Amino acid sequence: MHRVVITEGDAAVCEILIEAGLLSDAAGHLPHKEDRRQVAILTQPTVRTRADAVAKAIRGRGVEASVIPLPDGEAAKTLSIVEEVALALNHLGLTRDDTIFGIGGGAATDAAGFIAATYLRGIECVLAPTTLLGAVDASVGGKTGVNVGGKNLVGVFRHAARVLIDIDVLESLPLDLRRQGTAEALKTGFIGDPELVELYRQHGIDAPLDEVVRRAIDVKAGVVSRDFREGGLRAVLNYGHTAGHAVEVAAGVSHGEAVAIGMVAAGVVGERTVGFDRRLEQEQLIAFLGLPTRSPDVDLFDVERLMALDKKRDAGGIRFVVLEDFGVPRVVHPDDATVRDALHAIGID
Ligand SMILES: NC(=O)c1ccc[n+]([C@@H]2O[C@H](COP(=O)([O-])OP(=O)(O)OC[C@H]3O[C@@H](n4cnc5c(N)ncnc54)[C@H](O)[C@@H]3O)[C@@H](O)[C@H]2O)c1
Ligand SMILES: [Zn+2]
Repeated sequence: MHRVVITEGDAAVCEILIEAGLLSDAAGHLPHKEDRRQVAILTQPTVRTRADAVAKAIRGRGVEASVIPLPDGEAAKTLSIVEEVALALNHLGLTRDDTIFGIGGGAATDAAGFIAATYLRGIECVLAPTTLLGAVDASVGGKTGVNVGGKNLVGVFRHAARVLIDIDVLESLPLDLRRQGTAEALKTGFIGDPELVELYRQHGIDAPLDEVVRRAIDVKAGVVSRDFREGGLRAVLNYGHTAGHAVEVAAGVSHGEAVAIGMVAAGVVGERTVGFDRRLEQEQLIAFLGLPTRSPDVDLFDVERLMALDKKRDAGGIRFVVLEDFGVPRVVHPDDATVRDALHAIGID
């Protein structure tokens, strides 16, 4: 079993366990807690059977367990669902000694994390991500939230006490979901682990998931331990997200695809601003993984407007994370001509 700990100062605030088959024994891997009497499992329709099995195993250990179904995908991330679930938790009599256990993709764990952070002003949260994106990104790092008009507009920073990652569950994902997570995992390689980049170069999309997940989480946990509330360093996790997010909104591509395209754009900005000389190598690897390197046809002015509105802009203008080399990220404020060239490189004129 691989174990990663996220720290705040000297305190361990979140423990991440990674192993094949872990979900089958999730009941045995809840944090030790004498007074726990109940676990409320919040889950998605696609993994309901797994959640039911976990509930049964928890009951087998003499602790009450209930399954509260969430709607699938983004429909779980609304304040009205938060209200419904809070009423259900109150009805069950969940107390501060009890535990919320989110099982599912990033939408389910974002919602479960937010509910655990706010119900009774915060009770213990355990998460078991069942998508690769959830495992390497959403469930790790303590950002929770729901959508209110804008995506993730309402939320809090709060770590899950424990995250249980079952590699067997991730192995069985459909290709599209694997690709989504691969874009974010590759991103962590680019910003913090050249050996992960090498692993993808050798194996393509079939790179061994246990090593991918371990390496990607080591990078993210390291960054978050040094900067939980996005004071500065955490921005490097947004590599590929400045142009990527604008393309996601303008072209309606999935988040993972948008990040892949955004990293290609960031490669150009890096080449111009800090002399990054592996732009083509990076682009070839993205393509080799079956991820897109060009945006669908979108309007240049739309994309520029979206980038200007983005929260990744600050007083110095549009902020881009770039690479000096694989594993060496920097934050720069490129001039307008450089941004245009980068957009041109991803097919936006
Ligand atoms: N909190 C953060 O730091 C953070 C970071 C990145 C993304 N996110 C959030 O994560 C969400 C995206 O994550 P996602 O793609 O996992 O979303 P998701 O939860 O919507 O899952 C995608 C789809 O996969 C299905 N699914 C889940 N597990 C499955 C399995 N084992 N087999 C087959 N299908 C399965 C889900 O039911 C859903 O239909 C977004 O809401 C995003 O905002 C949060
Ligand atoms: Zn992302």
